[in-house]
Amino acid sequence: MAEISVESATAQAIEAIQSPELVSAVLKRGTGTEKITLRPVEIKGQRMVQVSAFDGRKTDVKNYIGEPLVVAVSELLMVPYRSVFVATLNEEVHIQVSKKGKPLVTRKRKQAAALPQLDHNRTIQRPLPEGTPDLFLQRIGLMTADGRIKADRQRKFQQINEFIRVACETAEFTALPNGPMLIVDFGCGNAYLTFGLHHYLNERLNIPCELIGVDRNADSVERDRAKAAELESDSIHFEVASIGDFIPPRQLDVVVALHACDTATDEALAQALRHESRFIFSSPCCHHHLQVQLAAVKPRGGHASLMRDGIIRERLGDLITDELRAMILRIAGYKVDIIEFTSLEHTARNLLIRARRVKREDVSDLVADYQALKRDFGVTPYLETISPPWVQALLS
Ligand SMILES: C[S@@+](CC[C@H](N)C(=O)[O-])C[C@H]1O[C@@H](n2cnc3c(N)ncnc32)[C@H](O)[C@@H]1O
Repeated sequence: MAEISVESATAQAIEAIQSPELVSAVLKRGTGTEKITLRPVEIKGQRMVQVSAFDGRKTDVKNYIGEPLVVAVSELLMVPYRSVFVATLNEEVHIQVSKKGKPLVTRKRKQAAALPQLDHNRTIQRPLPEGTPDLFLQRIGLMTADGRIKADRQRKFQQINEFIRVACETAEFTALPNGPMLIVDFGCGNAYLTFGLHHYLNERLNIPCELIGVDRNADSVERDRAKAAELESDSIHFEVASIGDFIPPRQLDVVVALHACDTATDEALAQALRHESRFIFSSPCCHHHLQVQLAAVKPRGGHASLMRDGIIRERLGDLITDELRAMILRIAGYKVDIIEFTSLEHTARNLLIRARRVKREDVSDLVADYQALKRDFGVTPYLETISPPWVQALLS
């Protein structure tokens, strides 16, 4: 094992990754789960290197060849890294960086050469995979009789799978409920994603669940009912109603609100709070309510400069809206994370507020942070004004 300079270790790593004999490489940075993997792939007869960067939430995949590969790898290695492991046909290079920032390099000859797998599209494990005929996917017009996804329906297919994955990886989501799990999709529109979740839980995981879609658009609900009839399911229902007026038939398990516009998202979150829903999946869009307040009030101190340019003010308004929503949920006893979600066709905004009801702990620090954020920007989120009284009491 040799201790050398960071520059020299980095150069060794780049050289090994560039080698035509590369089998695989793994680069780890930071203290968390951030991980970058590299492997050779063959695309249209050309050998390239596929770089998959996982930032703890999502994986970004890009393919490189020649000089752009060197540039990309050099940029990746510019951020201080913890370790790099490169396997080539005949050698393994391992660079481990100590807590003091000193790299230790180990090079080991391999006994037997391992050939890399060059298949470009390794099968992505999807909850509802392509290639397996699925009556549900066929009936909603995404899949052909022999199990192929139609070219123009690929996006919707991915969105359905992504939504199922995001929901089912939530802790305890797939634990069996006492009775049928009740999912309410507020501002459901065509409800494809919740149709998919309902199907996956019932048919694939054998978790009985009931879906109610709520939308004020009667035509849309009519179409949804026709689709539910085609699916021959007696556990899918739709109601024409304004979100705030809907009265659930029993305890809510899951509230879904995907791109329910502006304050419709708040109406859905308030319903979740009112009925103590066990889980919430909400992907907000069009944040007009807070934007109006931000435009009218000059924020305190250094924040004032954030209001100068319209685009900055608008994006900041979106972020403050969603952070205040998340804070309200946390104060009300939810464990919340905000993740990136496959963007839907309605909007470029692609955040998803994912929340799970847990035991409420002391929230005094959270409340202080919440009030400070409101005070600094001179805003009051709509969700606060329509939250049930017990939540409003906590927030004050
Ligand atoms: C942009 S679409 C999203 C549809 C669907 N959730 C999706 O992601 O594909 C918003 C839907 O919310 C419904 N909506 C908006 N505000 C509502 C409200 N206050 N009550 C009920 N439905 C509402 C609209 O009618 C529309 O169908």
